[in-house]
Amino acid sequence: MPPAMAIRGKPGTATESKARSAPAALATVLVIHGPNLNLLGLREPEIYGRTRLGDIDRALKELGRDLGLKVETFQSNSEGAIVDRIQRARGRARALVINPGAYTHTSVAIRDAITACELATIEVHLSNVYARELFRHHSTIAGIVVGRIMGFGAEGYLLALRAAKRMIETKQGAADA
Ligand code: DQA
Repeated sequence: MPPAMAIRGKPGTATESKARSAPAALATVLVIHGPNLNLLGLREPEIYGRTRLGDIDRALKELGRDLGLKVETFQSNSEGAIVDRIQRARGRARALVINPGAYTHTSVAIRDAITACELATIEVHLSNVYARELFRHHSTIAGIVVGRIMGFGAEGYLLALRAAKRMIETKQGAADA
C-alpha cells in the first residue's frame, strides 16, 4: 500500500488534525466476469467446475481484505456494459482482473477500453482454452495484458488477485485510486 500523502499544516490546525485522522485509501482492483459466467456452477460443470459466481466474488473480497485491497466485482452478459464498467474504472482502479468469457475471442471494443483506460490487466480463464476448440485459442486482449492465468478453475481468480497485489506493489499498476 502506498504511504499516505503528507498534508502540511500548523500544529493544532484543522489541516493537521485532518491529516492525522484520514485513513489511507486502499488500492482498488476491479474484477469483471463476462457473458454466461453468471451461470457458473450450473453451466458445463465438467469444464468450469461447481463453484458459483457468488462464492468466487465472496472469496475475492475476503482475500482482498487480507491483502489490503478493495475488490469490486462486476458481471455482465453485455459487451457494452462491460466497456462502460471499464471506463468507470479509469483513474480509479489500480488493476483489472477480467475473464471476458466468449468476448475474449471476438471483442475489439473490450480491448480498446482496457487500452484507453490504461488499466494494468490480468486475463483469467477457468479452463485451459488451448486444450479446447481452435476458436478459443485467439484472445483479442492477450497482447495488451500484463499476464494470463488459465486452467485452474475458480482458483485462477485468487491467483490473479495475488498477482494484482504484486503488480501494484511493484508499481506496474496504473493510476492511483
Ligand atoms: C472461458 C473460456 C471461453 O472460451 C468461454 O467462452 C467462456 C469461459 C473460461 O473461463 O474458461 O465463457 O473464458
